[in-house]
Amino acid sequence: MERIMCGIVGFTGEGQAAPILLDGLSKLEYRGYDSAGIAVKRDDSDRVEVVKVKGRLEELSKKTNGGHAVKGNCGIGHTRWATHGEPSELNAHPHVTEDGAVVGVHNGIIENYVELREKLQKNGYSFYSQTDTEILIKLVDYYYKKYKVGPIDALAKTMVRVRGSYALAVMFRDYPGEIYVARKDSPMIIGTNPEGTYVASDVPAILRYTRNVYYIGNLEMARLTREGATFYDLNGDEVTKKLVEIKWDAEAAEKGGYEHFMMKEIHEQPKAVRDTIGSVLNAEGNVDLTAVGLSDEDIRDISQIYIVACGSAYHVGIAAQYVIEDLARIPVRVELGSEFRYRKPLLDPKGLVVVISQSGETADSLAALREAKEKGVKTLAIVNVVGSSIAREADSVFYTLAGPEIAVATTKGYSTQLVACYLLAMQFGLVRGALEESYYHELVAEIQTLPEKIDRIIEDKERIQWFASKYAHARDVFFVGRGIDYAICLEGSLKVKEVSYVHSEAYAAGELKHGTISLIEDGTLVIGVLTQSDLYEKTVSNLVEVKSRGAYLMGLTTYGHYEIEDTVDFNVYVPRTDEHFASSLAVIPLQLLGYYIAVARGLDVDKPRNLAKSVTVE
Ligand code: G6P
Repeated sequence: MERIMCGIVGFTGEGQAAPILLDGLSKLEYRGYDSAGIAVKRDDSDRVEVVKVKGRLEELSKKTNGGHAVKGNCGIGHTRWATHGEPSELNAHPHVTEDGAVVGVHNGIIENYVELREKLQKNGYSFYSQTDTEILIKLVDYYYKKYKVGPIDALAKTMVRVRGSYALAVMFRDYPGEIYVARKDSPMIIGTNPEGTYVASDVPAILRYTRNVYYIGNLEMARLTREGATFYDLNGDEVTKKLVEIKWDAEAAEKGGYEHFMMKEIHEQPKAVRDTIGSVLNAEGNVDLTAVGLSDEDIRDISQIYIVACGSAYHVGIAAQYVIEDLARIPVRVELGSEFRYRKPLLDPKGLVVVISQSGETADSLAALREAKEKGVKTLAIVNVVGSSIAREADSVFYTLAGPEIAVATTKGYSTQLVACYLLAMQFGLVRGALEESYYHELVAEIQTLPEKIDRIIEDKERIQWFASKYAHARDVFFVGRGIDYAICLEGSLKVKEVSYVHSEAYAAGELKHGTISLIEDGTLVIGVLTQSDLYEKTVSNLVEVKSRGAYLMGLTTYGHYEIEDTVDFNVYVPRTDEHFASSLAVIPLQLLGYYIAVARGLDVDKPRNLAKSVTVE
């Protein structure tokens, strides 16, 4: 299945199409890619030339000599970011019918692909790939031939039949020099200039060629010729569109108008979290881990869980430890990949090793996974990048659907890993009888409210921005909290230090007096996280202790705890949720804090010094 983050480019016009397609696709790099392909057609030939590669766009460029080896003035191209189905040449787009009558690229997801595949199989179609896109293209072909209608009618019939989201670009052998597109819920724009007509998933792909674009509406189609574009609604009636002039520069366009990828990705969290939850919820509203590869029997057999990860993913593990132990009553131990791999760990043969990694390539996490496998212990990976080393080698995989993350400091990667862990905890609890069914259903309902609550917190970002500018030149920041709040502190502290270079540390609030309190001076910023009601009073006491030694206090708690204002100098409230899920909300203001301090200090937020997105060395 192809998710939202693929990139599409198409061109028909005066010049050679392939170099334009490659150039356009390279501008969509931030959408991520693991395979790529183009299809180009010459007016005087019946044949469409399709070239595909697994891997980076450079490979495609090499294979086609920068596009110059593929001749023709009309073509479509695609970069794929797999969320299901290994990245491979076969699964790469474009997809084409056996006789070459229809060829197309797609971005989105077709929900009823199983039913459509069966329907097509009954009508003599066979399939070479695991993609829903191949099914979609062959469905267009089926209607096109069955009703002997033109491309627009064939597309309209397809759109009525298909459930899901798509941005689709198709070429028909019988219509040289033309590209047909259709759109529902996936991004797509069309651009024109005197040389030709362009289509792309996003503005940066074509900004070099034109600033004049049409925004194609939902459930609309278009016919692209050298001279321009004609738009149609589902009935096949023409619709008129206004040309819009793009005023952004290319870099701002890539970041969707945000100043930095980190901010863009903070804003993408509601969607990423919603998608990840949705990927394991079935029609009855229950968690279903079959796609992850865990049966109820597997779950009942687990004696002990070992979570292994690095960086923020390790902090997810710390939060998950509290949640899993509480909801599923399974003992959990959390370890850093770099420690686990050399510790000669004693592992229970009935244990489950859970490796959490956004990239799926972190060397220490991968080594830890191999160590666990060698010892014959079952492994489960929570990974974002499909087909990555950790995903390939683990016995089962829970894919987070964060989409590509570009900023070095993780935000949406972390948030999606958290919800993946909650979902595991809930399902483990239910299957093992540790969780009342009624409470389980409450949790299923509550977890689905998180995206909207995260959205609300982000909307309130100006308050954090103001505070960040005030504390941009702090020397030290201390984060304190207990239980899940301590896990939140670990991540909040990392976010602040890694992007803003302000020294920051997280402490379990009760540990303060065993050393750290001696660092508190007049005006030292201490941030207390208080989302857990049974620990609230205890942490407040710790805050009072540091306040009496001169600390400046920020309190992060839930709406309703307004009495916190008697103790702290600055307060931030997040919406209430089940307290097991608190990390998902409380971390957001802390991500924003790190971001805004870094911006106020004029730092390179997306690429902090000395850090790498994916640490593939020890
Ligand atoms: C790097 C990144 C962190 C990330 C860590 C683990 O340090 O900067 O944001 O948490 O690696 O990466 P992984 O890809 O395994 O989640």
